[in-house]
Amino acid sequence: MKRSELDPLFPPRPTALAQEILRPMIREGDLVIDATAGNGHDTDFLADCVGATGKVLAFDVQEAALASARSRVTDSGLAGRVDFFLESHAAMGRHAAAGSVSVVMFNLGYLPGENHQLTTESNETLTALATAVDLIKPGGVLSVVCYPGHPAGASEAVAVESWSAALAAHGWRIAKYAAIGTRRPAPFLLLVGKVG
Ligand SMILES: C[S@@+](CC[C@H](N)C(=O)[O-])C[C@H]1O[C@@H](n2cnc3c(N)ncnc32)[C@H](O)[C@@H]1O
Repeated sequence: MKRSELDPLFPPRPTALAQEILRPMIREGDLVIDATAGNGHDTDFLADCVGATGKVLAFDVQEAALASARSRVTDSGLAGRVDFFLESHAAMGRHAAAGSVSVVMFNLGYLPGENHQLTTESNETLTALATAVDLIKPGGVLSVVCYPGHPAGASEAVAVESWSAALAAHGWRIAKYAAIGTRRPAPFLLLVGKVG
């Protein structure tokens, strides 16, 4: 009997895992945020989840990223559910009220195929995360995919993980998911949930 092959998508990538975990938590009509729109995979996912009456706020500092994300949601017929901002995610507090957002997604690092110097940066990321925590409503969740396998990503990942661990003392529930035994430090997913 032929042995079955291990699924090449096992274990799931942190970006896929984030979507799988968040999908059942997002309700029709919710306000959600994509903090790093990039090529729009998460923007499109969020726009699908919030339904016709929901709204996605999507941030990126690169025109090329927003053009790519906009084109993706236009192709899937969901552009009407997304407001794009050519602004740093650190400015997200100008566009949503405290306690009004059910999910904020961050996918750190650089845009695949583009200038790798244009990567997220620790201090800006920590400012944005602190703002996201204020915007999230009880029962809401913040997801962050970190990339410790490249030099700038490594120090950012350490900073983000220790920032999130400190929130546990303030009643938030925190989890980390990552492959182990990899050649380079594997990307990981942090989930930060606000107890309702
Ligand atoms: C890994 S990519 C995101 C990929 C995206 N989630 C997708 O599904 O295609 C990281 C993105 O963060 C963006 N970025 C870097 N600094 C930023 C900042 N301060 N505010 C918002 N976006 C930023 C980069 O321009 C890049 O497009």
